[in-house]
Amino acid sequence: MYKFDDTLEFARKLDEEDILRSLRDRFYTQENVLYMDGNSLGLCSKDAEKYVLKAIDDWKKYGIDIWTGEECNYFLYQDKLASLLAALIKADPDEVTVCTNTTINIHSTIATFYKPTEKRNKIIVDDLNFPTDTYAIYSQIKLHRLDPEECLKVVKSRDGNFIYEDDIIEAMTDDVCIVFLPSVLYRSAQLIDMKKIADAARERGIYVGFDLCHSIGCIPHDFKDIDCDFAVWCNYKYLNGGPGAIAGLYINRKHFKKEPGLAGWQGNKKETQFDLKQEFEHAEYAGGWQTGTQPILSMAPIEGSLNIFKEAGIENIREKSLKLTAYLMYLIDKKLVSYGFSYANPTEDSKRGGHVALVHEEAIRINKAMKANDIIPDFRFPNVIRLAPVALYISYQDVYEMVERIIKIMKNKEYEKYDGERGVVA
Ligand SMILES: Cc1ncc(COP(=O)(O)O)c(C=O)c1O
Repeated sequence: MYKFDDTLEFARKLDEEDILRSLRDRFYTQENVLYMDGNSLGLCSKDAEKYVLKAIDDWKKYGIDIWTGEECNYFLYQDKLASLLAALIKADPDEVTVCTNTTINIHSTIATFYKPTEKRNKIIVDDLNFPTDTYAIYSQIKLHRLDPEECLKVVKSRDGNFIYEDDIIEAMTDDVCIVFLPSVLYRSAQLIDMKKIADAARERGIYVGFDLCHSIGCIPHDFKDIDCDFAVWCNYKYLNGGPGAIAGLYINRKHFKKEPGLAGWQGNKKETQFDLKQEFEHAEYAGGWQTGTQPILSMAPIEGSLNIFKEAGIENIREKSLKLTAYLMYLIDKKLVSYGFSYANPTEDSKRGGHVALVHEEAIRINKAMKANDIIPDFRFPNVIRLAPVALYISYQDVYEMVERIIKIMKNKEYEKYDGERGVVA
């Protein structure tokens, strides 16, 4: 489908044709540094900075009136961010909210949907998901005084790299009440067929939830079509909301009347919240899953960043992201395979997320040499270097240049200077 060649001129031509190229100037990039880690922590944009400074300014000017003053109304800020986020997953704005972090939002949704009975008490997860998801579910099962070894049904990957949807569906037996899966695997970048999973779960009366951390902001989702029950995600990866930015939560509107598993006063109906009654009056929309006071300074950058997404269009972002990763795979095939590299991500567009999982037996040392050459990759033990050419701020020329630097590292055996010890954060 794609036609590439391996010259610098060709990379430049692709950049000239790129309709998103001007957006790069809205981000703080470092000269000569090739930042390929936007799937761990997205870069800071000028737009994000502007909204943080505005929030600080509003705090200076208005004090307590920052919440409900005429000039600014941060009391309902989560609803404003929700409507920008909802567009990325084709959900209704009131089905989305922002609160806490991904892990706590998993606790909150599982606490809401997990009502185990003697006959139906199992939760399906896969063995390749980001472990915090399993930790949270494990502890939720224990809170019910059930044995996680029995109630957590872990579907094992056949090859240690991909999940096979049919294996998940086969595991959907009568004793299962929830399936919780990633949309995109954090390591191999496999995009799961979410609709197939959700349809199969619904047919069997099983709730289905997704962790969108590695797809939101990179892949458009159509939640009206997928019709899952709940979803969670972080806003600091492709969405560039800042380190530790407040996370996202989706509740399908058919569940608005459900009692939130982790209730708090910010989830009370707004009209009566400040009556401060002892009885909780649950707001019947995703905002009802709020708990405590919102961290405005951690929310503000997301507003700025989401404005860029609105401008760019998530479909355009996906198109460019796929082309960038296809181009990177093409260059790996052409120029890096002879140095012992391969990649462990799906090659088909319909199954690939936003990064390439470069594999080499010397990955730890090569990763260190890449850093010394001003490439910011992301190492995943034992042999994967994740490379995310993020559509909003990475150019085709950056990808070309990165591959040239890797060739130099391999040709000169620069990686041999480094030890094979992994760092703490990797
Ligand atoms: C797939 C996935 N889920 C959850 C998390 C953790 O999110 P948080 O630290 O916001 O709880 C991560 C972090 O990288 C992740 O990749």
